[in-house]
Amino acid sequence: MRIGIPVETQPGETRVAATPKSVVQLAKLGYSVLVEAGAGAKASFPDEDYAAAGAEIGSQAAVWAADIVAKINPPTDDEITALRQGAVLISLVAAPRSPELLEKLAARHLTVLAMDSVPRISRAQSLDVISSMANIGGYRAVIEAAHEFGSFFTGQVTAAGKVPPARVFVSGTGVAGLAAIGTARALGAIVKATDIRAETAEQVESMGAEFVAVAAGEQQQSSDGYAKEASQDYAAAAARMYAEQVRDMDIVITTAQIPGRPAPRLLTEEMVASMRPGSVIVDMAASSGGNVAGSVPDEVVTTPNGVKIIGYTDLPGRLPTQASQLFATNIVNLMKLITPGADGQLVLDEEDVVQRGMLVARGGEVTWPAPPVAVSATPAPAAPAVSAEAPAASAKEEKKPRDPRFTYVVAGLSAVLLLTLFFFSPAGLLGHFMVFMLSVVIGFYVIGNVSHSLHTPLMSVTNAISGIIVVGCLVGLTLVDQAQSMTAANNLIIIVLSVVGILLASINVFGGFTVTDRMLKMFRKG
Ligand code: NAI
Repeated sequence: MRIGIPVETQPGETRVAATPKSVVQLAKLGYSVLVEAGAGAKASFPDEDYAAAGAEIGSQAAVWAADIVAKINPPTDDEITALRQGAVLISLVAAPRSPELLEKLAARHLTVLAMDSVPRISRAQSLDVISSMANIGGYRAVIEAAHEFGSFFTGQVTAAGKVPPARVFVSGTGVAGLAAIGTARALGAIVKATDIRAETAEQVESMGAEFVAVAAGEQQQSSDGYAKEASQDYAAAAARMYAEQVRDMDIVITTAQIPGRPAPRLLTEEMVASMRPGSVIVDMAASSGGNVAGSVPDEVVTTPNGVKIIGYTDLPGRLPTQASQLFATNIVNLMKLITPGADGQLVLDEEDVVQRGMLVARGGEVTWPAPPVAVSATPAPAAPAVSAEAPAASAKEEKKPRDPRFTYVVAGLSAVLLLTLFFFSPAGLLGHFMVFMLSVVIGFYVIGNVSHSLHTPLMSVTNAISGIIVVGCLVGLTLVDQAQSMTAANNLIIIVLSVVGILLASINVFGGFTVTDRMLKMFRKG
């Protein structure tokens, strides 16, 4: 079968549904690919590169007449007419918001696979464009914020003075939110984040950010990776939390969404007004009603108090090459799923929850919505309902338990080694060995519980252990008076070595504290 890749006609669209790399992959699955001339130009993929990868370059009419048409945005009325009756269309559809479009597609007897209706289950992640685009969106949100922000993200100590790190708050820690946290952390900012779903706290903390819970006991535990609408109590407690947090923030990035509903309003005008001039807010949900009062889709609004609110709705398209590559890879992964024979023949299996979830029209019927798929995004809630997929996915992820015989053999060998040491080593060594072993155990527990970001200050504090050398040198000095038998030369050597020892160890002790103090100052407010 032949796959057509048209030029995207939606104003401002920069992406394309296939790249030279994906053309090669589609050809391996047995498909021939026809790319409309200029389709990849805005994403930096010239026609020659497609041709070199094995694609044919063709006219608009030829592309729309292909057996399968793969594109980014939902088709226009003209494009629907240009499609062959019974052809396969693969694109974004926005099914919940587009009942009319679904009817038109069904009326043409098209088979339509919506790239934005992939069920959120582990097996389908490789074709989930919502996630791959949100990942890019979260990254780009931070880059846009950094562009509008008048200072560094990372803290710096320069000859011209100390620069504190930027403070970033991320609301909604799904795919976009986590990508924003990762990017802001990589740029050196101090990041705090919140989400209505309690299970995201661990992910937030694993990325080096602080999770701000709204109020104990009121957060949700989701069963499908998506949030439900907040209760009034939660919304009121959240409003108090936002009022307290955002006034101290330099950058706020909001990504909160509940599928099929308008974006929850998180920041009020008063909260925005409480922020310092020069602060930047990126409202990623601007296109679905906005999380932030005053945000305007596709615009940068500057409030009377000098806060900039970015409402761009095309963040993935601002990285057209990367976004096209990921979108195209998601399509290749879909084609792998629906081309079981790798023979260029598309075979749909409606029993498969992934394919059924994406199928929004077939045989003249609208087939959206698909029956719900129950999945668990939470580690282990009490006996959740699971789909046929879940056991397979979790079994794959489950760690194999270690063979108990291995543990017994290691324990036995260690005991033999220890006994040999006890019997054959001098008495003095045993004492030192016991002290060493105890130090290892104590050190493991003390250092293992210190956050990674504090390891450097910890190292400089542990320099204080050099105090033991000072004590040793002082004891050495007392020997000078007591040991009458020693010559004046020996006394002099002891005095010189002790004084040098005290001097060097003191540098370590006081230097360590000074460095720690300077580092901690960088993280202090104001
Ligand atoms: P997601 O569903 O993975 O994450 C949304 C998160 O918001 C979830 O973790 C959810 O628990 C949380 N949430 C819901 N209600 C909340 C509340 N009241 N308070 C705090 N957290 C709440 O969605 P994803 O894929 O990360 O996308 C996030 C948003 O970004 C969506 O609105 C999406 O349309 C938008 N987006 C915008 C782009 C742009 O160019 N502006 C590009 C890509 C995505």
